[in-house]
Amino acid sequence: KSIVLLISGRGSNMEAIVHAAIPGARIAAVISNRPDAAGLAFAASQGIATAVIDHTQHADRAAFDAALAEAIDAHGADLVVLAGFMRVLTEAFVRRYEGRLLNIHPSLLPAFAGLHTHRRALECGVRVHGATVHFVTAELDRGPVVIQAAVPVLPDDEEATLAARVLAEEHRIYPQAVRWFVEDRLTLEGGSVRVRGEP
Ligand code: GRF
Repeated sequence: KSIVLLISGRGSNMEAIVHAAIPGARIAAVISNRPDAAGLAFAASQGIATAVIDHTQHADRAAFDAALAEAIDAHGADLVVLAGFMRVLTEAFVRRYEGRLLNIHPSLLPAFAGLHTHRRALECGVRVHGATVHFVTAELDRGPVVIQAAVPVLPDDEEATLAARVLAEEHRIYPQAVRWFVEDRLTLEGGSVRVRGEP
């Protein structure tokens, strides 16, 4: 299966997915909306095709998303993986990739949708935090959940320590979700996630 990864920055989740070397998965391209995304250098060093579709060079979201879709489709993507991709996508884009568009979010959704999840978790005093891989739907951070990982919030945690604990779990569950998809075990059926062969 051919996979296109979308990034905006560091790209550590992209790296985790590349390093997982999932049998049957071909990383067709890494596309960034920011020319300065650090993750682009890693992708290039792995011999992966890279592209920049700069959102500041497009008149509006619809034009940006159309250019993005064109770049994705040029690589014949079976699966589109948002890995720290920091742009809200239009409904038309989301519909086009329905059932083959994944995102990772650094919280146990539906808690803490949106930005600054670790800071908000600390402010709320929750004892358990985590990360969620979900199919993307038009409503931000509200798509059907594929896999989650929980971590404890420790008494001395700061935003950075909590973020690092969550990120380690992200690097485990995102490749897992991609593996399920590549193995044809993960599907979205009538808005519900189905994972075959899982207890
Ligand atoms: C991750 O925490 C991800 O969950 C969030 O943004 C961060 C991206 O990190 N959406 P990276 O670019 O994958 O290193």
